[in-house]
Amino acid sequence: MNQTVLVAGGTVIDARGSRRADVLLQDGLIAQVDAKVTAPAGATVLEADGAVVCPGFVDLHTHLREPGGEDAETIETGARAGALGGYTALVAMPNTNPPIDTAAVVEQVLRLGRLAPCHVVASACITKGRAGEELAPLGELHGLGVRIFTDDGTCVADGGLMRRALEYARALPGAVLAQHCEDPQLARGGHMNEGAWSSWLGIPGMPAEAESVVVARDIALAGLTGGRVHFLHLSTAASIELVRAAKAKGLAVTAEAAPHHFTLTDSLCCGYDPLFKVNPPLRTESDVKAVKEGLADGTIDAIATDHAPHPAQEKERPFDEAPPGMLGLETALALTLTELVGPGLLDLEKALALLSWQPARLAGLADHGGPIAPGRPAHLTVFDPEALWEVDPTRLASRSRNTPYAGRKLTGRVRHTILAGEPVVIDSQAQR
Ligand code: DOR
Repeated sequence: MNQTVLVAGGTVIDARGSRRADVLLQDGLIAQVDAKVTAPAGATVLEADGAVVCPGFVDLHTHLREPGGEDAETIETGARAGALGGYTALVAMPNTNPPIDTAAVVEQVLRLGRLAPCHVVASACITKGRAGEELAPLGELHGLGVRIFTDDGTCVADGGLMRRALEYARALPGAVLAQHCEDPQLARGGHMNEGAWSSWLGIPGMPAEAESVVVARDIALAGLTGGRVHFLHLSTAASIELVRAAKAKGLAVTAEAAPHHFTLTDSLCCGYDPLFKVNPPLRTESDVKAVKEGLADGTIDAIATDHAPHPAQEKERPFDEAPPGMLGLETALALTLTELVGPGLLDLEKALALLSWQPARLAGLADHGGPIAPGRPAHLTVFDPEALWEVDPTRLASRSRNTPYAGRKLTGRVRHTILAGEPVVIDSQAQR
């Protein structure tokens, strides 16, 4: 669809800095960025007074559940939730049914994604069936555009296999191996963080070390092989310290953190409500502080949602039987603004780097993440940094309702989202 759109009156922020500018979009591209642009005849004008105009957000970690989990989410509903959250690109996690470990499933996800109001990028498994035994056809899947390989939901526990995957992936330009750091023996039988709260509640715990021993091992393997390792959803102070030291040595490692790990603690499991069950689990106050520090000092490269929809009947089971995971796409921006930017831990530009251009670079998505300049693809988010709203699970676009933030008042709301020049969200309403 060739549409002319003028985004008028906002403050443009990208990796080049901040300035007051109108942004004219034509034929899917940014045509003009100037202090004052007059709307051409027939243009759609999107008001951005008082709003920030930035490159669309990129989520490195979205469970879209299709194929196989359509009762929880579909590519269409998940992408709509993403667009409403300001995302223009989502990396779909491969723990679907069947898993994304063959060319046929990659192609199915990409085909469905082409109809969605976000760009949907497929990640794929490191091992066949995520079983941790045999490598998936990484080269073939890379040939279809896959750049992020992960067994997310499970850890590649076999160090020899992880080493081979890293050696193999080194020959695939832009390939990253994303590890779900959870030693299966240390974590076995656990349903929450191991600590004072798990003892008090009588819920078996998973120690922080279940995460950090894998981080330490894979840092060593990155050094041994020269392959690129990305650490998914880091949740503990010890893991973040290991990544900080590895980066200081110049190793090719990157890391992400999920909003729930910088906003919630294990004390919230006190009501045995599975809405607070997630993997890795909610940790302690000092871990939350360490995640925030890691985001502030550049140890953590991206805020990634780990959007993990589950149907109500699953999340209503007893704590030890319910699946782990929580929604994230529609609350990530507001949590970042409310919990990190508002209190002064991050400035706005750094927050947007973590939501947009840093994850875009990590995933090899050259069209995303800005800059907002003539000739660039028009994938943009416009948000009100001061808008106050309350999270109402019944009003989320996701097919599932498992947000732990029901009733929370947050600051910062997406006003418009533009994908390839097309407004897919206008005035906080999805257009398709
Ligand atoms: O809590 C989680 N849920 N963590 C994961 O790693 C997987 C995810 C899911 O797929 O539900």
